[in-house]
Amino acid sequence: VTLRAFFLDDDGLHLLDQRALPQQERWLVLRTVEDVAQAIETLAVRGAPAIGGAAAYGMVIATRTGMPLEEADARLRRTRPTAKNLFFALDAIRDAGRDAPAVLAAAQKIVRDDEAACAAMGEHGAALFADGDVVITICHTGALATCGQGTALGVIKSARAQGKNISVVALETRPLLQGARLTAWECAKEGIPCTLITDGMSAFAMKKLGVTKAIVGADRIARDGSTANKIGTYALATVAKAHGVPFYVAAPQSTFDLEIASGADIPIEERAATEVSGFATRVWNPAFDVTPPELIAAFVTERGVVT
Ligand code: MRU
Repeated sequence: VTLRAFFLDDDGLHLLDQRALPQQERWLVLRTVEDVAQAIETLAVRGAPAIGGAAAYGMVIATRTGMPLEEADARLRRTRPTAKNLFFALDAIRDAGRDAPAVLAAAQKIVRDDEAACAAMGEHGAALFADGDVVITICHTGALATCGQGTALGVIKSARAQGKNISVVALETRPLLQGARLTAWECAKEGIPCTLITDGMSAFAMKKLGVTKAIVGADRIARDGSTANKIGTYALATVAKAHGVPFYVAAPQSTFDLEIASGADIPIEERAATEVSGFATRVWNPAFDVTPPELIAAFVTERGVVT
């Protein structure tokens, strides 16, 4: 992995401030659990697996600063509700034991496992893509959003590494513009041809830009395959279906929530109205939506392609 969202050393958790991208590459050093919690809440770090990894290291910081682990765990669980990976990571740390070496080993394992899962998703998923594919995606799903090369963007990277000439069409992703600010930036860094469009252009782009496949990441997947991901994903899946374009979801097992039966049970984060408009009186601003399973062609996981 060349690009990294964060790393831990003796000084603290170093984190590339995603709020400043692409204008500025600014690194933060977080030394308290409250710093880490606020970084997750304010989106300095975002993307489901990256949130899980950062929270895991937040628990390591708790052992360093002497914050009771129950308190740190409760604080980090309150940061963002939708991404299952956050709760997966905190559950794994809770199960690992209460002493500092056990917490450190468990946190490092979460990060290492996610890096390996990204590589494996890339291997499995690359087989679904052919030379010349034009692939549409939403939000950000690369190295910034994970502990490895990425989920959906990771699959595209692996397919390209096999010599397939694949280009990306990135939705800008209203209202916070993760597509415009993060995916387009990461594609430029990695030399992946990327065309940026606004979210409303997706249907027309299917025809005009010759889109052949769609792949997105996920924040939480229910037992029936309903998939919570960035707001606008459901619309993209619907548009893909209408154009006969297969729609794939790339996600590690830490994103699957088998305790939840369907999309109706997935907690959807609602964010500040001011992100959408400073002047409207009434605004609805959910951060994620749920794509029904019948719109999804297959899941790409580290264990294989699952239908
Ligand atoms: O609000 P964000 O930026 O954390 O949302 C991120 C997404 O929706 C991603 O698509 C998702 O976490 C899955 S892929 C890493």
